[in-house]
Amino acid sequence: MNCNIAVIKGDGIGPEVVTQAMKVLDAIGVKYGHTFCYEQLLMGGCSIDVHGVPLTDEAVERAKANDAVLLGSIGGNTSTSPWYKLPPDKRPEAGLLKIRKELGLFANLRPAYLYEQLKAACPLKEEIADKGFDMMIMRELTGGLYFGSRKTEEIDGVMTAVDTLTYNENEIRRIAIKGFDIAMKRRKKVTSVDKANVLDSSRLWRKIVEEVAKDYPEVTYEHMLVDNCAMQLVKDPAQFDVVLTENMFGDILSDEASMITGSIGMLASASLNETKFGMYEPSGGSAPDIAGQNKANPIATILSAAMMLRYTFDLDKEADAIEQAVKQVLEEGYRTCDIVSEGTTLVACDEMGDLIKERI
Ligand code: IPM
Ligand code: MG
Repeated sequence: MNCNIAVIKGDGIGPEVVTQAMKVLDAIGVKYGHTFCYEQLLMGGCSIDVHGVPLTDEAVERAKANDAVLLGSIGGNTSTSPWYKLPPDKRPEAGLLKIRKELGLFANLRPAYLYEQLKAACPLKEEIADKGFDMMIMRELTGGLYFGSRKTEEIDGVMTAVDTLTYNENEIRRIAIKGFDIAMKRRKKVTSVDKANVLDSSRLWRKIVEEVAKDYPEVTYEHMLVDNCAMQLVKDPAQFDVVLTENMFGDILSDEASMITGSIGMLASASLNETKFGMYEPSGGSAPDIAGQNKANPIATILSAAMMLRYTFDLDKEADAIEQAVKQVLEEGYRTCDIVSEGTTLVACDEMGDLIKERI
């Protein structure tokens, strides 16, 4: 199979971790007879430095012309980087929001899974970690507070800022359908997370989720308030299968879920539209504090490449091979610095990439 992939290495640790994922993909290509053709594009701070904007229209067109996008990370230190002196719509994050919107990537899948081998890196109590967990956070990605109108102005001498949280029923329905579809392939449970005791948008969310649930009689579903969900994630994460939620709640809960897997460097993600097209990226940020030091954990990016094989290219066997290789390397005791613990072997970012590649 010939796979055309737009590669956006981005800023910070992005280039280091994406390079490892490309190595692993190339090993898959050799073993299973596929060709991966990469087209490198700029987004984020590196695009600002070259073009003055975080994402050009041409880069969007090029991304669309490929089958999928493999992304590293964008952005820098928000207090020291000159990128954050620019108006908000010219900053690195604006590029990420633009590409999500332009490509219609409304469904963000973030699998949080506790590897047996990483129980020591899990910050939860031993009796909780021992039960393990395996959940899929389904985050709505192109609506809500991130895309509502906003402004900051002085009203009667008082500085006032407004952000708007809007969802229409169609936006809720399409992500709910994706959530229930995914649940059907997993343990058939959906926890829909909202703040329906306060927000109108959440009350509509709940109503639409209930309608969609009627079409999936085999799936058990429940509603959970977002504050309770944040608590349940550290109290009893094993209870969750699919966690279905809106954009900002999903942003926050997925960072929390990643931390209990041992490190944010372990959390892969896929952002999908109605077609097979997808954008695949680690859920963590650009980590400017460790950028360029060959310290970053490339596993989330490598697992994101596996998701790309599974969801865009339907190459399940190949995706399994990557996931298996990651498991094996962890079993053999290799760890990057974010997940290292007593009795394990510390390796650099590129060594971790090589170890996984060699086990394909
Ligand atoms: C994420 C990130 C982004 C988001 C930022 C960089 C805009 O935190 O993908 O979770 O909030 O969506
Ligand atoms: Mg986030």
